[in-house]
Amino acid sequence: MDTPELRPEIRAYYERGGERTRLRQGVGRLEFLRTRDVLRRVLPEPPGRLLDVGGGDGVHAEWLAADGWQVRLIDPVPDHVAAAARIPGIEAELGDARKLAVDDHEADVVLLLGPLYHLTEPADRARCLAEAVRAVRPGGLVVAATINRYSALHDQLNRGGWFEPDRRARLAETTATGVVAPDGHFTVAYLHQPSEIAAETAAAGLTGIRQYAVEGAAWLLGDIGDYLDDPERAQGVLDAVRLTEADPALLGVSGHLLTVGHADGGAADPRAARPPGRTRSR
Ligand SMILES: C[S@@+](CC[C@H](N)C(=O)[O-])C[C@H]1O[C@@H](n2cnc3c(N)ncnc32)[C@H](O)[C@@H]1O
Repeated sequence: MDTPELRPEIRAYYERGGERTRLRQGVGRLEFLRTRDVLRRVLPEPPGRLLDVGGGDGVHAEWLAADGWQVRLIDPVPDHVAAAARIPGIEAELGDARKLAVDDHEADVVLLLGPLYHLTEPADRARCLAEAVRAVRPGGLVVAATINRYSALHDQLNRGGWFEPDRRARLAETTATGVVAPDGHFTVAYLHQPSEIAAETAAAGLTGIRQYAVEGAAWLLGDIGDYLDDPERAQGVLDAVRLTEADPALLGVSGHLLTVGHADGGAADPRAARPPGRTRSR
């Protein structure tokens, strides 16, 4: 594979297999349901060609293919690619977001739901975004997920890690710099400020940038995992989070953020995103 090397600690972390369950149980379902909810509103109508870069084991690719997208998933972890390739309708291959083995402008949509989490160097993040912009057609859409700067602090305040002196020092460092050092719980990562990823996507040439909080403040509420067990309550949670999803005052409190922009020509795109609030009935 003629691609930049994935850091061994990142590979080792994902080879532990955590992605099999992360978004499919407990409070992780909030990230899954909200990501799907936002994507179904901001993506153009399928069919079309969609590149799911850093798509993991296909947790989003599966429903995107069922919705009618022609999905090509690219990920550097062999177990992820093998699992995604077993999902009907998905083409899955090894690769790196910083050097995509794809043609210029081959996709209508490029999703980066994961690669930017692990690129601590600004130059690597710029390469990743430049590749997404190269791969998407003029007027097409790029969606970049980032982990918010204060998510580790808030998560560990919730779970108690903040009260362990060593951990507290590392969390304070991460809060200041955005860089997460591998600690047995997570791997090397970069946590963005919302304004930082907005600037990075604009510098890559994307226009019409919009940002959506994925979990909003809801991920910090103790009972949220239980609410998601009940379909009616789960819908209620989605309705509540949608009310604040684009409020700049709350973007950074969310665990994750989606930043959406068009490659040049976006304003004239006849398949432009539907107005906010309109959702397909599926
Ligand atoms: C947290 S997982 C997210 C998976 C899935 N997209 C989701 O939203 O649940 C991050 C993914 O990014 C992938 N990844 C890490 N570094 C990458 C890189 N340089 N290029 C492409 N993918 C990368 C990992 O292998 C992993 O599958």
